[in-house]
Amino acid sequence: MPQYFSPDKGFSKEPESYWIASTATTNYPALEEDITVDVAVIGGGITGITTGFLLKKEGLNVAVVEANRIGDGTTGHTTAKITSQHDLIYDTLITKFGMEKAKQYADSNEGAIKLMTRIVQENNIDCDFKSENAYVFAQSDDNVDNIKKEVKAAQSLGIKASYTEQLPLPFPIKAAVQFEGQAQFHPRKYLLAVAGKLAQAGGHIFENTRAIGIEGGQKCTVTLKNGRKITAAKVVIASHYPFSNVRGLYVLKIFPARTYALAIKARSKFPGGMYINVELPTRSLRSIPLDGGGELILIVGEEHKTGQGEDFNIHYKNLIDFAHQNFDVEEIQYRWSAQDYMTTDNIPIIGNITANEPNIYVATGFKKWGITTSAVSAMVLKDLIVKNQSPWAEVYNPARFTDLDTIWKSVEKNLNALKNGEGKSITIAERGMGAYKDDKGKIYLININCTHMGCQLKWNNAEKTWDCPCHGSRYSATGDVVDGPTFTPLEKIEII
Ligand SMILES: Cc1cc2nc3c(=O)[nH]c(=O)nc-3n(C[C@H](O)[C@H](O)[C@H](O)COP(=O)(O)OP(=O)(O)OC[C@H]3O[C@@H](n4cnc5c(N)ncnc54)[C@H](O)[C@@H]3O)c2cc1C
Ligand code: FES
Repeated sequence: MPQYFSPDKGFSKEPESYWIASTATTNYPALEEDITVDVAVIGGGITGITTGFLLKKEGLNVAVVEANRIGDGTTGHTTAKITSQHDLIYDTLITKFGMEKAKQYADSNEGAIKLMTRIVQENNIDCDFKSENAYVFAQSDDNVDNIKKEVKAAQSLGIKASYTEQLPLPFPIKAAVQFEGQAQFHPRKYLLAVAGKLAQAGGHIFENTRAIGIEGGQKCTVTLKNGRKITAAKVVIASHYPFSNVRGLYVLKIFPARTYALAIKARSKFPGGMYINVELPTRSLRSIPLDGGGELILIVGEEHKTGQGEDFNIHYKNLIDFAHQNFDVEEIQYRWSAQDYMTTDNIPIIGNITANEPNIYVATGFKKWGITTSAVSAMVLKDLIVKNQSPWAEVYNPARFTDLDTIWKSVEKNLNALKNGEGKSITIAERGMGAYKDDKGKIYLININCTHMGCQLKWNNAEKTWDCPCHGSRYSATGDVVDGPTFTPLEKIEII
């Protein structure tokens, strides 16, 4: 058998997600005409499909538009644990945000497990859904107290949590918190079935249909890349990152972090359960039952901020080393990596995109726990759209980032020094971006990561362009392409 990785030959197989490799490709049509619906949902991952499904059940006319193929995004590259256990979070939530908001978080995620269980049962979905306990474990003495605090906090919020020092893992642990009544599944088998039910009920799903703009107001208009338009009373942005041309300073509220996965065949059986450690580097574990019998062990971890680091293969190598140290590895069958968006306060963002846009909603910043949070989003957004209220809306409210006003004031101060017709790189909340003031004093903010391969652009004061030092792409001061190799304009950052 060829070695999966050797220092001289590299990897013998390209990255490929097991979830995608083990399911059929979808073939929904592209949208080629203008349509009018009650709700347009942008993005066909687990968030968009679940939201569309719940809204359709309420009798609304729903269209989900997906830029590529449904379920191929982060949802096709996840670990697929269905948990209200999201690392160690409840003690911090209670301390930082109070009992009421912590309870909203706990109840909504427990509610998400129940909703997903119900969807699977009522629709007879064959998606390897299995009830499992979930564990967060500590390997250092320093974290034992944190585990104990988490158990107490989770119990006080009504979660079935308990403390243990024994886990059936092939390495020692000091302490762990156990959550009962959690689950695991095959995310694409689930998503494709739910999408099928949505379509059967008369919901519209369009693939290869990219939204490029949204106009809010009494009636919203979603503009598509092919020039077609969707008129909708409400729009839900479930595109993972709220795509460009949307308001709300999301560039300051969320940031991407990558994670790596290996699916291995081992000679020994996985003990059951789902596990994640407290310490870094992250190691997250579960098994995957195979259709023809047997199982794979899924090992996930090595999280880092997107774009940070030099040699990204090292993350796969570290996981391979971990696999060999802890399991009797027969074969490494799959490896893949993906990213999810983290929020600055570690709580997802679900609700109206800004206070000024009552008909546009967003769900993002799931911080690697978007399987249950997608169901939370679907329930909260369905309630906001249908009843104008949700018992869980407050904790996820996108308008909670009051410190953005302070940040923005310092940006304005910073940009006062910028003369008309000048551009410069600036840093806002640790994020680099480009600022340009036109001849009339209007400010344009853009993402200055080159859309070719991500190099940081430099301001060219002679030509008034953003130039790429890597392969020479150039952009106008406001981000349009001037010279290739890129052909994609820069992302524009809306201020309001
Ligand atoms: C390695 C890894 C492991 C994880 N493990 C877990 C776990 O065990 N449990 C858990 O709860 N969470 C986990 N997560 C997080 C979870 O998988 C994600 O939060 C979740 O899948 C996000 O779903 P989504 O529908 O919001 O996004 P996506 O699945 O990315 O879907 C968004 C869709 O929108 C489309 N889109 C984007 N822009 C446009 C546009 N302009 N027009 C039309 N369509 C557009 C994209 O093509 C994409 O298909 C993990 C994440 C990673 C990276
Ligand atoms: S990364 Fe900018 S031109 Fe290649």
